[in-house]
Amino acid sequence: MRDLTFALTKGRLATKTLALLEKAGITCEEMKDPSSRKLIFANEEAGVRFFLAKGPDVPTYVEYGAADIGIVGKDTILEEGRRLYEVMDLGFGACRMCVCGPESARALLSGRERIRVATKYPNIARDYFFNQRNQTVEIIKLNGSIELAPIVGLSEVIVDIVETGSTLKENGLTVLQEIVPLSARMVVNQVSMRMAYDRIQDLIEKLRKVM
Ligand code: PRP
Repeated sequence: MRDLTFALTKGRLATKTLALLEKAGITCEEMKDPSSRKLIFANEEAGVRFFLAKGPDVPTYVEYGAADIGIVGKDTILEEGRRLYEVMDLGFGACRMCVCGPESARALLSGRERIRVATKYPNIARDYFFNQRNQTVEIIKLNGSIELAPIVGLSEVIVDIVETGSTLKENGLTVLQEIVPLSARMVVNQVSMRMAYDRIQDLIEKLRKVM
């Protein structure tokens, strides 16, 4: 039987995922060494391999079958739009995708204003404004510190992740509309789902029990 390969999102999600897998009896000691520059880790006994990737690359690895299973945020799944199965909500990493801005921008969301929207998530923002709200807007792609955009006058509003809300608050911004709730999800390659159905179901069962 070949190893099941997991692509994990580097950072906080990976730490939480490994803790959850460990509770379910799937461990990988090698991976806990923080000084290691190794990219791929195996637990041969358990028949699993893990590698760490940047969030937006996780759905790519899974769609092409380079990983059987991916652990990634719902935001990234929506933004990347890859062909894969989303099989489980892991519960952690809970936050919301929102339209945010200064309170004064609320009036610009009525549908007729051609406003500028800065975001790291252009596909989510486009789908929300064009398809769900029927508002034609200009989307400006940024790569981080999105809250800056309305402060320095790059855009009227932003589409961004809100977790505790403290970044917004400290910058005089607020949630204007909620787009979708987010959290970490398990995704599965479409062929792996058929070829390793029993093992994947067994894994889901084990995780459910310890969640
Ligand atoms: C995310 C997000 C917000 C912040 C929200 O940014 O883009 O800026 O966290 O969290 P809060 O509601 O708890 O304040 P991240 O820290 O990932 O970095 P980035 O700005 O570079 O995207």
